[in-house]
Amino acid sequence: MANLVLFMITLSSLALILSAIEGISAVEYTVINTAENTPGGARFDADIGGQYSQETLENATTFIWGIFQQNNASDRKNVERVSLFIDDMDGFSYVSNNNQIHVSARYIQVYPGDVKTEITGILYHQMTHIWQWIGNGQPVPDGLIEGIADFVRLKSGYAPTSHWVSAGQGDRWDQGYDVTARFLDYCDQLKNGKFVAELNQKMRDGYSDGYFQELLGKSVDDLWVDYKAKFNN
Ligand SMILES: *[C@@H]1O[C@H](CO)[C@@H](O)[C@H](O)[C@H]1NC(C)=O
Ligand SMILES: *[C@@H]1O[C@H](CO)[C@@H](O)[C@H](O)[C@H]1NC(C)=O
Repeated sequence: MANLVLFMITLSSLALILSAIEGISAVEYTVINTAENTPGGARFDADIGGQYSQETLENATTFIWGIFQQNNASDRKNVERVSLFIDDMDGFSYVSNNNQIHVSARYIQVYPGDVKTEITGILYHQMTHIWQWIGNGQPVPDGLIEGIADFVRLKSGYAPTSHWVSAGQGDRWDQGYDVTARFLDYCDQLKNGKFVAELNQKMRDGYSDGYFQELLGKSVDDLWVDYKAKFNN
């Protein structure tokens, strides 16, 4: 009898462990190079590759859940599949259907220098768009959404030094991309690395500039003034 109970306890903990593993690896990734026969598509295969890209998508997901401090699957968006397409198109990169990342083979072709690092950074940025909360239908400044994606890229270590502003540069807190990413990094340090995680969590249900005040005790405009003063003295 005691043995049977023990056996059943073992079985149920095994089931728990299995479902935990399932929870971790539930996202499926695919990489499709639709531009193989173009110079950029060939450069993707030669210098970056499907295997590396797939691993990068997986690693980016884990990294983003860490930045957002989403330890529990119920904190996260429910996305089961992410696909990366290398397409023969103009521009850089965009996300469609909330789970498909498209990267321009033409950009890969003409990128001067370390294209692998550049594309890795772009994948961290775009993967953030897949996982971030964006206000549940309420208006959010585009610059904040892009700034959070570049904040993650900054933290990943794949931010380009060549074409990014330095800390303290820019005209408005919600100017977007690198400008807003640097400002968010400042805000994050005021809250021991928890600000962006908490802001993202609040953005699950809505959005207001007042979230900065709620989380940091100062309005976003005052924080921007402090930030500019800190880096421009
Ligand atoms: C992904 O993360 C694993 C574990 O940290 C690491 O061994 C691997 O090199 C990473 N892959 C890429 C493409 O960065
Ligand atoms: C995860 O979240 C759910 C729903 O909020 C909760 O019931 C559960 O206890 C949480 N699990 C952990 C490990 O925190």
